[in-house]
Amino acid sequence: MVCLGNICRSPMAHGILRHKAIEHGYNITIESSGTGSWHVGEAPDRRMMAKGKEHGVDISDLRAQQFVAADFDRFDRIYVMDRSNYRDVMGMAQTGEDENKVKMILNELHPEADMPVPDPYYGGDEGFEQVYQLLDKACDVIINQLDEQG
Ligand code: 4NP
Repeated sequence: MVCLGNICRSPMAHGILRHKAIEHGYNITIESSGTGSWHVGEAPDRRMMAKGKEHGVDISDLRAQQFVAADFDRFDRIYVMDRSNYRDVMGMAQTGEDENKVKMILNELHPEADMPVPDPYYGGDEGFEQVYQLLDKACDVIINQLDEQG
């Protein structure tokens, strides 16, 4: 799960998918990162942590890290939150196989629409609720795909 700062959207996506994976008994590696380095080492934004907690998803253990090219070798899928993340991550891909791993996460809900998960950082509480709801629905689709893969 990749966003810009790795303190709002991608840690929430990471926490939600981790929560659902545990519920479904999947032992899969899930991480999140930011394309930028400003917040490396920091816990998630307090407002995002509180929103997760409100919905029963604890992300207080997560610490921001920066996306690196080696991540292409460590993961089968790389979900980005918006077009700018998509450009930045695709710019680090070295092979077509790498490129094929990169997906806009809301395309799982609305295929090929390239809708962004809006950055809630400079807005009010409703932005954080909206991010939570969008990511929750997208992660349901991802988990259902894993269920179907068997
Ligand atoms: P995120 O939100 O990409 O969802 O973690 C942001 C948080 C901080 C900044 C940008 C985006 N920032 O520029 O500090």
